[in-house]
Parts: sequence; structure tokens; C-alpha cells
Amino acid sequence: MKKFLVSTSTPYEIVIGKDILKDIGQYVSKIFPKCKACVITDSIVNTLYADTVVNSLRDYGYQTTKVVFPSGEHSKNLNTYARVLEALAEDCFTRTDIILSLGGGIVGDIAGFAASTYMRGISYVQIPTTYLAAIDASVGGKTGVNLLGGKNLVGAFWQPALVLCDYSTFDTLSEESILEGKAEAVKNAFISDKNLIPAIKDNNYEQVIQRCVSIKKSIVEADERDTGLRQLLNFGHTIGHGIEKLSAFTVSHGLAVAKGMVVESRAAYAMGLTPNNVSPELEEILTDLGFDLSVNYSSDELYRYALTDKKIFGDKISMVIPESIGKCRLQKISLDKLKEFIELGMK
Ligand code: GLY
Repeated sequence: MKKFLVSTSTPYEIVIGKDILKDIGQYVSKIFPKCKACVITDSIVNTLYADTVVNSLRDYGYQTTKVVFPSGEHSKNLNTYARVLEALAEDCFTRTDIILSLGGGIVGDIAGFAASTYMRGISYVQIPTTYLAAIDASVGGKTGVNLLGGKNLVGAFWQPALVLCDYSTFDTLSEESILEGKAEAVKNAFISDKNLIPAIKDNNYEQVIQRCVSIKKSIVEADERDTGLRQLLNFGHTIGHGIEKLSAFTVSHGLAVAKGMVVESRAAYAMGLTPNNVSPELEEILTDLGFDLSVNYSSDELYRYALTDKKIFGDKISMVIPESIGKCRLQKISLDKLKEFIELGMK
């Protein structure tokens, strides 16, 4: 088992291990006295792991309730968010009670956003059950839901009080879900540590999670509110989010980010923003891992979607430029040039 302390505005521990889900009550009891605990989860994770979590919390004296919503990106909206808030109010949750998010990034983002706003903020615990959530979404306190206009357009920065990651939950993930995690891991390898690639290929979950969490911890500690350095974690996401949305979410987040990283790296080189072309190696790594890198949308469609990107400041967008494998930098490009950038990346 491995622990990390994230030193953000409110510090918290990340515990990573195997078969530790059943001990959640014990971990929570070290931080919170007996109180009400609302487990928020989706329809798939509910059948797999909710009983383990609820029973463990009850063993430690917590009074549990549960909110379950349909699995999938279509649930990540204001209606589900409102349903969670109403459930908390109905069960008379107060500021000394807690939320536990049990599931992937969608569950974590909704539960975290509800926690950030219910009674102007209550504590929550992240229990990621997917590879992607373990290495990215559960750490760093980005919470929110989608609007019709785009992904994650409403939300808050709200750090969890604890992250408990039991990677034995990956045993029940689909191949596609594992691939989603690999895409975010490859992203980390390209922005920060190329030595991660063998561990990703070997399915060495423990090593990959520990390294990715350590990278994310350093970045989030330096830029908790995403005003600079943290935007590096968005490599592939400007195009990736567009692909997700244009596909009506039939292309999942991780698979879209893989395609997005390729388009953005090709574009960065073709536009002369980096002397090194990392895209052939990136494409080879992703293809070997089993990714389909085709993009079925036009540069015009992707450009229109990119105009909703949260990295736009005035008439410029901050893009992640790979300088070499393991080293990226941010560069602002004008929105006029963004169209050309995307066109070049699609060639
Ligand atoms: N998922 C990117 C971030 O947390 O900043």
C-alpha cells in the first residue's frame, strides 16, 4: 500500500492499494466522527461495490444513504446534480455530514460538485473504481457537470478529504474502460515521464497509478486552480472533448483523448511550434496499445467545439505543445490560428 499527501488549500491523503475497499469505514473514521454518509454511485458500480462500502461504513457507526444514477456520460448533467442535492436535503444532511463518491470520473465529478455547493460546501471522499479516475479525475478537486453547450462547463474546485483507490476494482472493468485509463497514462508519460510507457504496456497498475498520482499531485500543488501549469494535464483534451461531444458521447473520454493527443501533436509540429515531431512515436504507442486513432469529424466541427474550451483567455487559447516525449510546454495561440492548427493536425 502507498500513501501520498496532497498539499493543496485543504490537504488530503491518497491511499492506493489492493483489496482495501472493505476498509473504507476505518479510513473515514480517522477523519470524520460518526455522521451521515451518502454514497453516490452509478447503476453498474452500485451492483458491484456499493454493499462493501455501505457495510464497512455501518460497521464504523456511520448512518448511510445512497444515490444511484444511470451509468454513462449522459447522466453528467444539471438534472442528476439537482437530484443528488435534493436527496441530501430530503435526508437532512448538514455541514458535518459527508458524501462518498464511488465510481469513475463521471460519478466523482457529479458527487464532488454536489459536495462543493450543498450548504455552500460539505466534505467528500473519492473512491475511484476505474483506471482513468484512479490516475486522474479523483485527484485535484475538479468537479462539475456538462451543459448542452459543452463538457464540464459548470463546476467548482473542491478538494476531497480523502482518496481511497483500490485497484482490485479494475478486475471488473471492460477492455474499453482499461484503454481509457491507458490514454490518460500515456498523456502523463508525454507531459512528464517517458519511463512510464513500459509499465503502461505491462499493465502494471500499481506502478502506473503511483507515478501518475505523484505527477498530478505536484502539478495540482503548484497550480490548484488551473491558471497555468495544470493546463498541461489537458494535452489532447481540446480536440478530445470535441470528439466526445460530436459523437454524442459514443466515443468515450479516454478514447477521444488518445485521438486528440495525436491531432494536437501533429498540429504543433506542422505549425512549427516544436522542432521535434513526437506524433509518429505517439501513434505507434497508442496503436500498439489497441487504440483506433481515426477522427470522423471535420476540422471545422472541431474548431467550433474548441471555442468552448476553458483554456481560452480573450482571443487566445493555451495549447499543450510536446517538445519531446516526457516534456511539454504551454503556448498561447490566437483563435484565428487555432483553425489552421486543427486543420494541420488532421492531415
Ligand atoms: N483532469 C485534468 C485536471 O484535473 O486538471
